[in-house]
Amino acid sequence: MSKQTDDFFKNIISHAKEYGFVFPSSEIYDGLSAVYDYGQLGSELKNNLKTYWWKSMVQLNENIVGIDAAIFMHPTTWKASGHVDGFNDPMIDNKDSKKRYRADQLIEDKIDRYAKDGKTDKAEQLQKELDDALNADDLARLKAIIEEHNIVCPISGTKNWTEVRQFNLMFATQMGAMADGAEQVYLRPETAQGIFVNFLNVQKTGRMKIPFGIAQIGKAFRNEVIARQFIMRMREFEQMEMQFFVRPGSELEWYTRWKETRLKWHLALGADPAKYRYHDHAKLAHYANAAVDIEYEFPFGFKEVEGIHSRTDFDLKQHQEYSKKKMQYFDPEINQNYIPYVIETSIGLDRLFLTVLANSLVQEDLSTPEKQDSRVVLKFHPAIAPVKAAVLPLTKKDGLPDKAREIMAKLKLDFNLQYDEKDAIGKRYRRQDAIGTPFCITVDYQTLDDDTVTIRHRDSMEQERVPAAELGRIIADLVSWNNLLEKLI
Ligand code: GAP
Repeated sequence: MSKQTDDFFKNIISHAKEYGFVFPSSEIYDGLSAVYDYGQLGSELKNNLKTYWWKSMVQLNENIVGIDAAIFMHPTTWKASGHVDGFNDPMIDNKDSKKRYRADQLIEDKIDRYAKDGKTDKAEQLQKELDDALNADDLARLKAIIEEHNIVCPISGTKNWTEVRQFNLMFATQMGAMADGAEQVYLRPETAQGIFVNFLNVQKTGRMKIPFGIAQIGKAFRNEVIARQFIMRMREFEQMEMQFFVRPGSELEWYTRWKETRLKWHLALGADPAKYRYHDHAKLAHYANAAVDIEYEFPFGFKEVEGIHSRTDFDLKQHQEYSKKKMQYFDPEINQNYIPYVIETSIGLDRLFLTVLANSLVQEDLSTPEKQDSRVVLKFHPAIAPVKAAVLPLTKKDGLPDKAREIMAKLKLDFNLQYDEKDAIGKRYRRQDAIGTPFCITVDYQTLDDDTVTIRHRDSMEQERVPAAELGRIIADLVSWNNLLEKLI
């Protein structure tokens, strides 16, 4: 990271904390590694992002329905899905610093360093060696690569490494009151399996016809070996996943469609398209016949925000085998029974949240020849802004607060608002800019005469005078979901 991007990333983290978006979990006890709490504005923003996703999936598509499955699932689920045996990261410890690392990440960091130093050939060669070792699940080879390329522990600076071992990322706990008779269960590492095990329930009760999708938003848990970069890699996080069930043979056509649809969804939020790119998976999971990541250019480089995977019939087939229940669909159009193929779209809500913060946070220079000035603004799309408008009496006297409260009482039935009468009006505008409130409604002396107010627009800082009676309609138009959703169809 350059100094500039490093500073920008630090600004995002401190702004998120200062204004009540994201706090370290249980901070009074010095926090818990890679676990975060969303504050009063963060939870609003997160809810709005969920609503945007849910509406785009469930409301806009007649053939997609949503569910809310439990976090705990029968333990055999994870055997069938392959997570018990295969959901591992290769880890390695440095014996001097006692720090634990992901072996593949240590090597990737070295590749980045080679590339930065202009040693492109070396970077490409090392990437190939890493891919080969990972494809072959060859842990001894990973250790050898680390030694051959003189990779040292960033803390101790030594090469005193342990062997590379596999580390399962699932959190396990006991279900049942008595430890003896208790059954080991897992905190789900992905929400997708809750959809697969309910495939027939939803298909039958919803009379769904293929192609159709099941969407879900919920928490997932992974005991990441190395958790880093704020809310990028967490141990408790949230996913928004949709499994789209299709006729075998048509999956690649649907894969291409979902790939395009999902990128369009991200871009509708207003980011610079150059900040996004597709990254095809070089190494496909054994059950996938196509997979791509949508990557966003974070301050620390392009990283995955969402994955689109063509998962064939792997999961349903596995559940059929382990549960001994038929996972078939009868397709009346071709008069055949089959296990459907699946296209999955899987986005991390916390990563999306970080892209939105990174995209929206700007420091604007407002200096004039007479005066130096600047402001910090979160330029959220109005539909996802945590607070839609602030109601501000120009002064604290002469009945202006009463009038402002009267206006607020009506508007709050429809919108999340803030009321603020403290400090000079300019200072209050800046406070709202910093939390991304798109509109400020100012009640002044003229309001008492003719029942008009000013609306100040966050991005242009322009003000217009409108009748107070019109406010509900005006704000509704400006913050409507319609403004986002219409870009998707
Ligand atoms: N069902 C497929 C699946 O879970 P994944 O690529 O492992 O695929 C999907 O995860 C998305 O979940 C990622 O694109 C990322 O946005 C998010 N994600 C995964 N691990 C995460 C973590 N430790 N912290 C935050 N988000 C994570």
